[in-house]
Amino acid sequence: MRLLVTGGAGFIGANFVHLVLREHPEHEVTVLDALTYAGRRENLEGVAGSFRFVEGSVCDGGLVDDLVGATDAVVHFAAESHNDNSFLHPVSFVETNTLGTAVLLDAARRHGTRFHHVSTDEVYGELPLEGGERFRPDTPLAPTSFYSASKAGADLLVRAAARQFGVATTLSNCSNNYGPYQHVEKFIPRQITNILDGKRPKLYGDGRNVRDWIHVEDHNRAVLAVLEQGRVGETYLIGANGERSNREVLAAILEVMGKEPDFFEHVADRPGHDLRYAIDATKIRDELGWTPRYEDFRTGLAATVAWYEANEAWWRPEKRETEARYQTLGR
Ligand code: NAD
Ligand code: TYD
Repeated sequence: MRLLVTGGAGFIGANFVHLVLREHPEHEVTVLDALTYAGRRENLEGVAGSFRFVEGSVCDGGLVDDLVGATDAVVHFAAESHNDNSFLHPVSFVETNTLGTAVLLDAARRHGTRFHHVSTDEVYGELPLEGGERFRPDTPLAPTSFYSASKAGADLLVRAAARQFGVATTLSNCSNNYGPYQHVEKFIPRQITNILDGKRPKLYGDGRNVRDWIHVEDHNRAVLAVLEQGRVGETYLIGANGERSNREVLAAILEVMGKEPDFFEHVADRPGHDLRYAIDATKIRDELGWTPRYEDFRTGLAATVAWYEANEAWWRPEKRETEARYQTLGR
């Protein structure tokens, strides 16, 4: 298969390209990536097999049309992906996440190209802390930020493209990822690299908020399963039963890194901070036989800590600017 991977120089996309070309050398991969602050060409160093990199935006209709016309399937990761940044430049989230997806779908419509859209569980809004309710494929969309609303807009366009134009779409909504190559702005790498710098991790508010953590490799194996065996027109939720409060995640990081349990500070909460996300992944498990390989969060977390310890040259250049951005936000 000829695959066009958008956002392939970012965290999840780069891990996806490495995985595909390692395990499916018969595929040809073209990456389209605008190399924003979040995308790094070097994330794709060492990929084997048939691979090409194109620098450009998913909003560039002419470029997208050429690339989609020369591909069998699009796997669409490109996005503005960080909630906190949507407080600083909200409109760019709508441009990349919603308009960019429309541009890609329009090209897929013209060329009859298979389209897999990578989305987030955040489109379903927040769950109460108590009660055990989880997101399901029929949970109504109820986004709460410009990040999640712009992704929800894209999800609706994907569904519309299937119905209106007959585009062969699939859609997956995954929970919070962690693993190698994740930008130091995100929760887990921010705290690991703070500790490596001798600084205290920062916990928003009281730290009771819950996220459902999954290792990036498990997410990407699920995306591949949907691409290869998923039913066209369907939505699959991806999660690994990894619910943990931010306090619990931070305690695990501190323990793995040999720090005292109180080596952190509380900072101002994120306004509108969603309380809890949780995924019911029964559909993808039952229909496609997918199961996560990293069932033990501690194992995946320890491997991730080791990756950041070994790759300071990778994260160091981003650290100062990222913390300056957080200073602007007061957290
Ligand atoms: P990321 O921010 O690490 O990477 C995004 C990539 O997209 C970067 O390489 C960036 O350069 C590229 N990009 C941004 N704007 C672009 C444009 N206009 N044209 C082309 N490329 C552009 O994000 P990530 O964490 O790897 O997330 C990838 C996808 O997975 C996103 O769609 C996100 O919504 C979704 N997702 C992420 C998580 C998570 O926990 N990180 C969970 C579920 C779903
Ligand atoms: P994040 O990685 O930004 O993902 P998302 O907001 O998409 O879930 O944050 C994960 C959780 O961690 C979220 O509840 C916010 C919280 N958080 C902190 O407590 N401190 C931090 O420094 C950051 C970046 C996030």
